Amino acid sequence: MIRAGVIGHPVAHSKSPRIHGYWLNQFKIEGTYTAIDIAPDQLAGQVRRLVDEGFTGFNVTLPYKQTIMNLCDSIDQTALQIGAVNTVMIRNGKLFGTNTDAFGFIENLTAATIGARFHCATIVGAGGAARAVIYALRSHGVENLIVTNRTRGHAEDIARHFGDIEVVNWDERHDALSECDLVVNTTSLGMTRKPSLDLPLAALAPTATVCDIVYAPLMTGLLVAASARGNRIVTGIGMLLHQARPGFAAWFGREPAVTPELETLVLS
Ligand code: ATR
Repeated sequence: MIRAGVIGHPVAHSKSPRIHGYWLNQFKIEGTYTAIDIAPDQLAGQVRRLVDEGFTGFNVTLPYKQTIMNLCDSIDQTALQIGAVNTVMIRNGKLFGTNTDAFGFIENLTAATIGARFHCATIVGAGGAARAVIYALRSHGVENLIVTNRTRGHAEDIARHFGDIEVVNWDERHDALSECDLVVNTTSLGMTRKPSLDLPLAALAPTATVCDIVYAPLMTGLLVAASARGNRIVTGIGMLLHQARPGFAAWFGREPAVTPELETLVLS
């Protein structure tokens, strides 16, 4: 029996058991993937327990994406650049950390915009998700990156970390859109029970693509507004589904696919 799961606190809301459960079922693999809630003062001990119980690996969600790095024996360049680990492989009792959020973002973007090339992207937000998106866009060859964030200092931290990123004041965020062919919301604004993202799109070219990493609701206010003015939109659910693929492949040995059926299942 191959065992994997997702650790977090809280973790009951996680969609990952549904995603991996769907693939385990599809491939008829004798394996389990469970949500494991770990109290903050018990992280090290509980992770050791997973190793001792023979887990093959696990995903990491809030609030442990950074703290898990201290427990990893090795961390790949992607996770180091993003500054967070969301996927851990356990081999011979050792923990190898990586981050698949950038992979998930690009796979979703390219699947939704086949053949498109982007030259300039405005990234809204400067948290952990923004780091993954910026890393992804850089790796994907997007030359010009603009970050706008409520707290300018956080955007400046990111610009310093990645280099060659323009920071635009939050008050001037709408102006940052005029040169861009891609806009990405990486904040949680627009999510159910959160304030909406106030981002006037008037300056945005009609040919630009608007992407939201929020997936609940699937059609955020930003995407509704973008769609109404004829911009191509990319919803956030694909990033969640695609980011799960590398972990599943590493732990269970099969290359899973993102299907409309899986998307419906996860959104239901
Ligand atoms: P994550 O790591 O999941 O990306 P985070 O670090 O809390 O989450 O980052 C959330 C992002 O949403 C940040 O860019 C945050 O802006 P600040 O750096 O100013 O905190 C942004 N954000 C959250 N609430 C916001 C709000 N009401 N208005 C504008 N930006 C907001």
